[in-house]
Amino acid sequence: MFFRRDKTLNFAVAAPTSSMKLDFNPIIVLVVTWVVLCVGCAPNEPAATWKPVTSLTSRQQLQKAQALEAKESLSSMLSLELKAAMADPATAIHFCKTRAPSIASQIGKEQNLRIGRTSFQIRNLNNQPPQWAKGFVRARVNDAVTLQLADDGLGLLFPIRVKTVCLHCHGQQSEMDPSIFAAVLSDYPDDKATGFKVGDLGGYFWIEVPLMDR
Ligand code: HEC
Repeated sequence: MFFRRDKTLNFAVAAPTSSMKLDFNPIIVLVVTWVVLCVGCAPNEPAATWKPVTSLTSRQQLQKAQALEAKESLSSMLSLELKAAMADPATAIHFCKTRAPSIASQIGKEQNLRIGRTSFQIRNLNNQPPQWAKGFVRARVNDAVTLQLADDGLGLLFPIRVKTVCLHCHGQQSEMDPSIFAAVLSDYPDDKATGFKVGDLGGYFWIEVPLMDR
């Protein structure tokens, strides 16, 4: 399924195939987003808690800037540390297991927000998406999503694309070094995060930024 981003609204929508040329209007886009939200919502947390953000208020712009900064920090720290760890790929798996989650929680603490990585094909079962992001992750949206959460927090989802370096640990099994594949399976017996190709959507950064100035 293909998705595209509606330029006027800040979230992803299902795009028509070339054979069915539909003109999207904002009402349809809102309905689609509500459907995705309902699919993702927990029974005890109604979807009404989360609203698609159509245009950012100045306060939300600050929240989004904070989210982007946290995403950049996490992304650059992970790739820096990964580069060093890849000197020995099989032990790099253990690096990812311990360091990746702790780097994320450290950045979250320092920047007063929550941040993590998730996917529709998960390796670490602790990396489940937050409730508000579930429907979008399951639908594999290709573009960034911004939602207003409860208590005026802002929830953001940013797609992550697969690069060559990722294939060592997330590629096709037949192309992976057998020792790495074995290390993945021994740490994550239920692993679903292999079989990717360069350029694929591999997962998401999710960020929750609380309301700052009340
Ligand atoms: C050395 C092996 C290794 C490499 C290289 C690697 N990963 Fe991972 N990846 C892991 C491990 C192990 C986890 C689970 C640990 C964690 O982050 O909680 C993981 C988790 C993830 C997750 C979180 C969702 C999940 O499945 O748990 C995403 C998204 C992800 N990787 C994407 C990537 C991308 C994109 C790249 C390339 C830029 C990459 N990884 C490179 C080993 C690797």
